[in-house]
Amino acid sequence: MAYKVGIVGVTGAVGQELLSLLASHNFPVGELRPLASARSAGKKIAFGGNEWTIREATPDSFAGLDFAVFSAGASISRALAPEAVKRGCVVVDNSSAFRMDPAVPLVVPEINAHAIAAHKGIIANPNCSTAIALMGLYPLHRIFHLKRFFAATYQAVSGTGAAAMHELESQAKAWAAGQAVESSVYPHQIAFNLIPHVDSFLDTGYTKEEMKMLNEGRKILELPALRASTTCVRVPVFRAHSIALNAEFEKPVDVQQAREAIKHFSGAELCDDPANKVYPMPLFYSGKEKCGVGRLRVDTALDNGLSLWVSGDQLWKGAALNAVQILEAIVR
Ligand SMILES: NC(=O)c1ccc[n+]([C@@H]2O[C@H](COP(=O)([O-])OP(=O)(O)OC[C@H]3O[C@@H](n4cnc5c(N)ncnc54)[C@H](OP(=O)(O)O)[C@@H]3O)[C@@H](O)[C@H]2O)c1
Repeated sequence: MAYKVGIVGVTGAVGQELLSLLASHNFPVGELRPLASARSAGKKIAFGGNEWTIREATPDSFAGLDFAVFSAGASISRALAPEAVKRGCVVVDNSSAFRMDPAVPLVVPEINAHAIAAHKGIIANPNCSTAIALMGLYPLHRIFHLKRFFAATYQAVSGTGAAAMHELESQAKAWAAGQAVESSVYPHQIAFNLIPHVDSFLDTGYTKEEMKMLNEGRKILELPALRASTTCVRVPVFRAHSIALNAEFEKPVDVQQAREAIKHFSGAELCDDPANKVYPMPLFYSGKEKCGVGRLRVDTALDNGLSLWVSGDQLWKGAALNAVQILEAIVR
C-alpha cells in the first residue's frame, strides 16, 4: 500500500527534513503533494525518483490525500488543517495551533503512541524543546516518578526556520570581515551572543515557549500536577537544541539506575563519560535520530533530584522525525 502525502511548508527548514526522512525511512509515498505559499508555486522538487511541482496551499489542495503534514506556522494550520480533515485527510501538525486542544492528541511516539488512536483528524507534534527534554526526562520518570523540574534551553537558530540560519551565517561573515552586523529575524545580533527571549512574553514574565515545556509536558506525560520552570535561550548554534535539566522525583534516585534507564530507552542514547570528555553536544546530535543524554549526576539542591543535559536535533525529533514516526505508527 502506498499513501498520498501532502507537505505544507515543503520549502521550509522542517519541510525539507520531512522529505529526506520520508525517503530514508522508506515511508510508502505513492503521490507527493508539495505545498507552500504562492511565492513557491510552480517550483519543482525531486523526491522518490520523480519531480513534483509545488502548489500553493488552498483548501482544495487536500482532496484525495491520505495524510498532510503541516509545517508552515500556526495561522496556516488553523486555516487549512480543518479543511484537510473535511476532505478526509489525516493531519500531523508541527505548529502550536492545536497542541493544547483537548480533542487533539499531542504525541511523542516513544512516550504516548497510544494517544494517536483517539484522533479526530488532527494529531499535534510537540514543541521542539519539550520533545527533546522529554527524551531525557521520560525514561527517568518511568522508574523514579517525575514531580517537578527546572530547565534552561540552548536553542539553535534553525528552530526559527531557514531565514534565521541565513542570519547567523551572514552575521558571522560580516563580523569576520569587520563589517556592520545586521539583524532582521531576531531583535538583537545572534552571532557571538545569547538571546534569553524565545517567542513572545506573557504578563507573568515567562515567554510562551517557556510555558510550552510545562503545559505540553503535562499533556504528553499525562501528569496534570507536574511543575516546571523554564528559561529559554537562543544560542548561535545552527542545528540541535540542548537543555540543562534539574529534575525532582517522588522516589529516591540512583545514578546507575538512571543511566540504565536511558540506555534502554528507544528515543535516547547515553552519552555520559565526562572523564573522557564525552557528553552530548549539538554538533554531534545534528542529523541523529536519538537524542543524547549525559552529565547525569545527583542534584545538590533538590530532594531525590537528578541533573542532566540533553542535546537533540530539533528539526528531527522536535518536528520532522516525530511527524514521520507518527505516520509510521498510524499505518502500522
Ligand atoms: N524549525 C524547527 O525546528 C521547528 C520545530 C518544531 C516546529 N516547527 C514549526 O514548523 C513550522 C515551520 O517551521 P520552519 O522552521 O520550517 O519555518 P520556515 O523555514 O520559515 O518555513 C516556512 C514554510 O512555510 C511556508 N509558508 C509560508 N507562508 C505560507 C502560506 N501562506 N501558505 C502555505 N505555506 C506557507 C513557506 O513557504 P514559502 O517558501 O513559499 O514561503 C515555507 O515552506 C512552524 O509552525 C514552526 O513553529 C519548527
